[in-house]
Amino acid sequence: MDKPKVVLGVSGGIAAYKACELLRRLTESGHDVRVVPTESALHFVGAATWSALSGHPVSTEVWSDVHEVPHVRIGQEADLVVVAPATADMLAKAAHGLADDLLTNTLLTARCPVVLAPAMHTEMWEHPATRENVATLRRRGAVVIEPAVGRLTGVDTGKGRLPEPDEIFEMCRRVLARGAVAPDLAGRHVVVSAGGTREPLDPVRFLGNRSSGKQGYALARTAAARGARVTLIAANAGLPDPAGVDVVPVETAVQLREAVLKAAADADAVVMAAAVADFRPATYAAGKIKKKDGEDPEPITLVRNPDILAEISAERARPGQVVVGFAAETDDVLANGRTKLRRKGCDLLVVNEVGERKTFGSEENEAVVLGADGSETPVPYGPKEALAETVWDLVARRLG
Ligand code: CTP
Repeated sequence: MDKPKVVLGVSGGIAAYKACELLRRLTESGHDVRVVPTESALHFVGAATWSALSGHPVSTEVWSDVHEVPHVRIGQEADLVVVAPATADMLAKAAHGLADDLLTNTLLTARCPVVLAPAMHTEMWEHPATRENVATLRRRGAVVIEPAVGRLTGVDTGKGRLPEPDEIFEMCRRVLARGAVAPDLAGRHVVVSAGGTREPLDPVRFLGNRSSGKQGYALARTAAARGARVTLIAANAGLPDPAGVDVVPVETAVQLREAVLKAAADADAVVMAAAVADFRPATYAAGKIKKKDGEDPEPITLVRNPDILAEISAERARPGQVVVGFAAETDDVLANGRTKLRRKGCDLLVVNEVGERKTFGSEENEAVVLGADGSETPVPYGPKEALAETVWDLVARRLG
C-alpha cells in the first residue's frame, strides 16, 4: 500500500524547530512527508535539515522544477496538509486565498483535510484580524488548533505557543484516519469534563476517586480533530494538554460546576465524563488534622454536592444544546442506565459496566450509549477513542 502523503508546511516562526520533531514522528510512522517551508521559515531552520529528514527536495517558491508543476501537484496529491507553525501572516494569506509562494499555492490546490497549528505572540493571536481569519478558515473546514499557553519567544508567557509535536502528530493521525470526511464539528463549541474531583479535608488530605481522565481526554482530542473548538474542564487528571484544546484545570466538584456552567453558556454540546464526588466534607480544616493519643478520630460529616449533569440538562444554556452523561454501573446495567438517563434529563448516557477488564485507568472501554429517544448504541470493547468517536457521531447527528 502507498504511504499516506503528508505535506508539512512550515512558516516563519521560532517554533519552526519543533516541526523537525513532528516531521520525524510522521516519517517514522510510515508517512511520505514533503516539507514546504516559506522563505522566512528558512531563517529558522535551513533547507538541508528539511530535505535530509524528509528524503525529498525542498523548495519555497514555484519556480523550481517547473516542468513538474509543483505548485499544483503537491497539493493535489496530498492526503493531508499540516502547517506547523502557522504564523499570523500565514493564516491571513490562507484565509484570503493569496498564492505568492509554494506553500500558499499548495493550500489552494489541496482538496484533502488541512490542519493549521498557529504559533505567535498572544497579542497577535487575540487581534480581531487574526480572530476573523481563524473563524473563516474553520468555517471552510480547516482544523485550526488552539495554541497552547506557556513561554513564548523571549521572557513573556501567554497563549500562542505551538502545541507539543506529539500532540500535533496525534491530531494529524486522527484527521488522516477520518479520510476526506469533512470535519463535522467545525464551527461548534463543545465542553468536556474529565478526571475525578478531589474534596479537601485539610491542606494535605482529600476524598477522591480513581478516574484517570483518559476517556474525557479522548473525547476532547477526537472532537478537536473533527473541527470543534473544545473546552476541557480537567479535574486532577495529570495528563498532557491535548493539542487544540482549551484546558481549564479544577479540583473540586464546586469548581467543576462553575467552570462547566461558564463554558456551557455558548456551547453546542456538553459531555460530562468527569467522575464528580456526590459528597464533600462539611468542613475544611485550615490546619492539618492531627491524631490524638487515646482518642477516637472525629467522624467526617459529608454534605451533598450539586448534580451538575442534572442542572445543565434542566437549564439548557442554548436551545438544541446536546448534553451527554456517563454512568458506571455494576448490576442491571441497562435498566439502571435508563432510570439514570431519565433522572438526569440528558440526551445521551454512556453506560459502562464496571468490572474486570473495564477498570479505571485502562486504555480500553466497552459501553452502551442510551438515547433519550429510546435508542441504544452498543460500543464493543476497544480503545477509548473509538467510544469517543461514537459519542461525537451521535452528538453530531443531534446537532444536525
Ligand atoms: N455527575 C454530575 N454531578 C454530580 C455527580 C455526577 O454532573 N454531583 C455526572 C457525572 O459526570 C456523570 C453522571 O453524572 O456524567 C453520572 O454520575 P453518577 O455518579 O453515576 O450518578 P449518580 O447520580 O451519582 O448515581 P449513583 O446513585 O449511581 O451514584
